[in-house]
Amino acid sequence: MSGHGTPIPMISRTCGPLTGIAHVPGDKSISHRSLILGALCVGKTHITGLLEGEDVLDTARAMRAFGAVVTNHGGGEWSVQGVGVGGFAEPDQVIDCGNSGTGVRLIMGAMATSPITATFTGDASLNGRPMGRVTDPLALFGAQAVGRAGGRLPMTIVGAADPVPVRYTVPVPSAQVKSAVLLAGLNAPGQTVVIEKEATRDHTERMLQGFGATLTVDDTAEGRVITLTGQPELQPQTIIVPRDPSSAAFPVCAALIVPGSDVLVPNIGLNPTRAGLFTTLQDMGADLTYENLRTEGGEPVADLRARYSPDLKGIAVPPARAASMIDEYPVLSVVAAFAEGVTDMQGVKELRVKESDRIDAMAKGLRAAGVIVDEGPDWWRVTGLGHGNVPGGATVASQLDHRIAMAFMVLGMATQDPMRVDDGSPIATSFPVFEPLMAGLGAQIIRDGT
Ligand code: S3P
Repeated sequence: MSGHGTPIPMISRTCGPLTGIAHVPGDKSISHRSLILGALCVGKTHITGLLEGEDVLDTARAMRAFGAVVTNHGGGEWSVQGVGVGGFAEPDQVIDCGNSGTGVRLIMGAMATSPITATFTGDASLNGRPMGRVTDPLALFGAQAVGRAGGRLPMTIVGAADPVPVRYTVPVPSAQVKSAVLLAGLNAPGQTVVIEKEATRDHTERMLQGFGATLTVDDTAEGRVITLTGQPELQPQTIIVPRDPSSAAFPVCAALIVPGSDVLVPNIGLNPTRAGLFTTLQDMGADLTYENLRTEGGEPVADLRARYSPDLKGIAVPPARAASMIDEYPVLSVVAAFAEGVTDMQGVKELRVKESDRIDAMAKGLRAAGVIVDEGPDWWRVTGLGHGNVPGGATVASQLDHRIAMAFMVLGMATQDPMRVDDGSPIATSFPVFEPLMAGLGAQIIRDGT
């Protein structure tokens, strides 16, 4: 439940080489899905390495409100005693998903085909984000939604008592929308078909298969066609959550821009639907290598080794890669500021409807730090100044967005003057150990006023 507390201003200043090993937390997307799918099984799912960030804790509370028994055994070990597909109870309280679009959208999908009613809310960021993209397809199943103007939270969903399966083409590249429709399809009889024109993260598909659902994926001229057979009995699982590539991005990118750095970030999931940033950084000339590349739980995993990269070059990031690095553009734009030449990021309209308008938030902060940024509705361009030449010395509004706050803390590690964010508290939504982890590598981040 971020954004409810006192703002935490933070300052990041130029530091010596970043060195050491960075154990980043568990994957946020997989953590949400572990709790939700665990709640939809009959029996007990065991989860190791769950991300204990605020977003995921809000989802754990929500699953309890729908009747699952969610237990924290300590040290990242959790269990979920599920209620089965179609077994959700009606919550007797408003479901507060805090800052989390993934949490609210997936949970709306999971409850929309049960004969129950639930009301959802969030913080100021989440309550400003569009929910029509999820409630439109949920209406096809027979669910009804009543929210604020523009399809905003707080919003009540009346689940369908007699759901029908749907065939739905997702109009925007969004794993959250795809997943909401698939989760709703679980309790509809017959086959629900979701078509996506651009592949987005495929954790829901992989995990549904792992939990025993009948789900097929076909690559066709129409796009990726996902077919789910409804009303399965999901089987409880033992899940080991891989570490989050989106969190790994911060120590990796920091190492590339701080002279003398050499950082190892172990056990990072490199699912191709998530790993676009690392390919892009390599294309820019980053000294970034995959060590100990292996397959775990059917997914590629490696230890990432990032070293200071004196010869970074701006590039045109292929728009086809956008979905596989959508959360990483803020920190990519920080690296781009230290590169020679222009980094051009096209086909990224979705950045405007994240926890903040991320193009706007980054452009404002980078400009305040002395970097030239051009932007349009679905593109932006950063003109790099080269290592040692980024002035910094600005205060930036994090706009209740964890990735904006962390990106500017990384920027400040290599600017001439320190960078300050007005509120670093949202970092706790996804990366609660960000400050001690970065300090352990040698970063100089302090809470302003402490
Ligand atoms: C997520 C999907 C993405 C991503 C978010 C996590 C998920 O959102 O930005 O951080 O776990 O499904 P969209 O579906 O809105 O692209």
